[in-house]
Amino acid sequence: MIADKILVHFNQIFSPIDKGHPLRGEEMSEANIIDDGYIAIKDGNILAVGSGEPDQSLVGPLTKLVSYKGKIASPGLVDSHTHLVYGGSREHEFSKKLNGVSYLDILKEGGGILSTLKATRESSFEELYDKSAKLLDYFVTHGVTTVEAKSGYGLNWEVEKRQLEVVKALNNSHPMDLVSTFMAAHAVPPEFKEDREGFIQLIIEEMLPKVAEENLADFCDVFCETGVFTAEESRQILEAAREVGLKLKIHSDEIDAIGGTELAGELQTTSAEHLMAITDTGIAKMREGNVIANILPATTFSLMKDTYAPAKKMLEGGLAVALSTDSNPGSCPTANMQFIMQLGCFALQLTPIQVFNAVTINAAYAVARENSIGSFDQGKQADITIFDAPNIDYPLYFFATNLVSEVYKNGELVVK
Ligand code: NIG
Ligand code: FE
Repeated sequence: MIADKILVHFNQIFSPIDKGHPLRGEEMSEANIIDDGYIAIKDGNILAVGSGEPDQSLVGPLTKLVSYKGKIASPGLVDSHTHLVYGGSREHEFSKKLNGVSYLDILKEGGGILSTLKATRESSFEELYDKSAKLLDYFVTHGVTTVEAKSGYGLNWEVEKRQLEVVKALNNSHPMDLVSTFMAAHAVPPEFKEDREGFIQLIIEEMLPKVAEENLADFCDVFCETGVFTAEESRQILEAAREVGLKLKIHSDEIDAIGGTELAGELQTTSAEHLMAITDTGIAKMREGNVIANILPATTFSLMKDTYAPAKKMLEGGLAVALSTDSNPGSCPTANMQFIMQLGCFALQLTPIQVFNAVTINAAYAVARENSIGSFDQGKQADITIFDAPNIDYPLYFFATNLVSEVYKNGELVVK
């Protein structure tokens, strides 16, 4: 029998409310928590969500019935910030880090991003593709169905393009949806050490137009940080990116507050990321510019710092918060979104509802895919993450264990 619909039952469903904008401040505590719930799927999309006995119109002779009694469902998790595509790894820097050498000092010595730069430049398309595909497999088995992926380990056109083409190819071949971000402004490469202005002009005049022409990215991102790009340089790059039609993101206030967050507010970027060192002015400017605060708590954990981004203060200031992995070989080597969610509770003191909103509906807005993912509204993709848990509090409380048991992507079971 070929089913015309699938009707899936759960103990409880986390169903975010899509208000037409990212959930801000107190709105982040709102959601429909549906006990004894069902989700009806048709043609890979959401048809209906409800509780108890489904409406007769949803059940016909060709309906496939599936029951996940004792389990819960949320919209497929969205990881809205990763550096997915890279060569090599950096475990050789780990002992330096354990001996107290700072992230920026490792970078200054030619390690860090620059060491991954070398390994990425030496990697073929196939090598990068295979390595990233493997990471995506980890992501999906941990419940993620959409991943944002940045370039930024090539820092010349040939290799930046290779990274973006890997993202495009994986978006076509892997069940995961990928959102592509051009981030050549991730570091100044050694060949431009004495000519930063030359590198910025290369990005603006040569790379950005090609990214747009060849349709290689949705977003442009810049690392605005001490020793990397100043706020003024970030402004030049982001304004040029907007000119060619890209949406904007910025890494700001990760280590030092040097004006990137205020710039995000002024330019009304889609999101600003990290924000560990954010100031009150930064929060106010983000609110004015409707910028989503994308917090990456596992980076704080992995950098062994205790200065987590002030998530609760951001909510009090009326901001919309998203949470993501920042998966990368240096400051955050992980592919476990559940750990990020748990840090959302353990380190940021958010509630389970706030955390689920941060990785579903708000994260969908952070990658500008709110029309197709992030909630169970009719017509959105049937991306469903199923946890072996009796209620939505449990996967936050029972930490450091993969509780994802099944994943549906566009109505198809891709993890079981
Ligand atoms: O988001 N902050 C800049 N980029 C990454 C780190 C990349 C790396 O260390 O390789 C981040 O933390
Ligand atoms: Fe990052």
